[in-house]
Amino acid sequence: MGKLEKLTLGSLFILLIWGNMVSGLGHGLACPDWPLCFGQFFPDINFPIFMEHGHRIMGLIVSIFFFFLAKNRIKNYVGKQKFLPIFAALLLTTQIILGGLVVIFQLETNLTTFHFGNAILIFLLIYTMCKYPTSSELSSAKFFSSKAKKYIIFFLIIYFQLVLGAYTRHSNAGLACPDFPTCLGYWIPPYLSETVFLHLLHRFSGVLIFLYALFLLLITYRQNIKDQFKRIGRLTLLVGVQIALGIYVVVSKLAFSMTAIHLLVALLIIMIALDAVFDENKTI
Ligand code: HEM
Repeated sequence: MGKLEKLTLGSLFILLIWGNMVSGLGHGLACPDWPLCFGQFFPDINFPIFMEHGHRIMGLIVSIFFFFLAKNRIKNYVGKQKFLPIFAALLLTTQIILGGLVVIFQLETNLTTFHFGNAILIFLLIYTMCKYPTSSELSSAKFFSSKAKKYIIFFLIIYFQLVLGAYTRHSNAGLACPDFPTCLGYWIPPYLSETVFLHLLHRFSGVLIFLYALFLLLITYRQNIKDQFKRIGRLTLLVGVQIALGIYVVVSKLAFSMTAIHLLVALLIIMIALDAVFDENKTI
C-alpha cells in the first residue's frame, strides 16, 4: 500500500477507536453544539472537550485524506468501478450529517447505531479502495457469486454482530447480564427484558460465529486450499480472542480500554472476512 492509502486507513482506524472511547468515557455531549464546539473551532480545552472535539477534528483529517484517495480512484477506475469512490463519498457525507444529528438528538439509540453501521461500511469501502488501487486489480475483487456463498453469509453475520454490539452498547445493555457465563444467575433468565435479550443475543451470535469459523476451517483444510485455510485460521483465532475480550468487557464492568480493544479486533475480523470473500471469487 502507498503512503496515501496507509494514512487514510490508519487515520480511519484511529477515528473509529477514538469515537468508541469518547462514548465509553461518556464525553459524547462535551460539545453541546455542532459542527463547532461552544461556537468555536478552538474552544477552551478540558479532557472531555479534547476527546469530543478531537474526534471531530480527526473526522476532518480522515475526510481530507479520503478526498485525495477518492479523486485518484475516480481517475484510475473505469466504467462502473467509479461508483465505488462515489458511493463511499455519499456514505461519508451521510456520516457527517448523522454525526451532527447524533449530537442534536442527544445520542438517540437508533441514530447512534446507524452512525456505527454506516461507519463500518465506509471503513470497508475505503479498505477495498486502498487494497485495489488500479482498475485491473479492482476487477479481480468480486463480492457476489454463488461460489462464495458460505463466505458471504459469514461476512454478513459478522456485520450483523458488529451492529448488534453497537446497539447493545447504545441501549445501555452492556451490563444487562453482569455475570458470565450465566446471566443474572441463570443460563436463560425466566424474564427476558429487551436489554437482557439484546445482550444474550450478542453473546450467542459470538459463539455462533466461532462455530461457523471452525466449520469453514474444516472445509478449507479438507479441500486443501492453503491461502484460504491460513486466512480462516487467523480469523478463527481472532474470533476466539474476541469472545475472551467480550467476557472481559463484562467482568471489567465496561472498562473503556477493553471496549476499545473489542472494537479494534471487530474491525480486523470483518476486514479478514471481506478478504475471504474476495479470495474465494478470485478465480471466477
Ligand atoms: C465474534 C464475536 C464478537 C464481535 C465481532 C463483537 C463485536 C462487538 C462490537 C463491534 C461492539 C460495539 C462496539 C462499539 O459500539 O464501539 C460490541 C459491544 C459489546 N460486546 Fe461484543 N462482539 C463479539 C462477542 C462478544 C461476546 C462473546 C461478549 C460477551 C461475552 C461480548 C460483549 C460485548 C458487550 C458487553 C458489548 C457492549 C459494550 C458496552 O456497552 O460498552 N461481545 N461487540
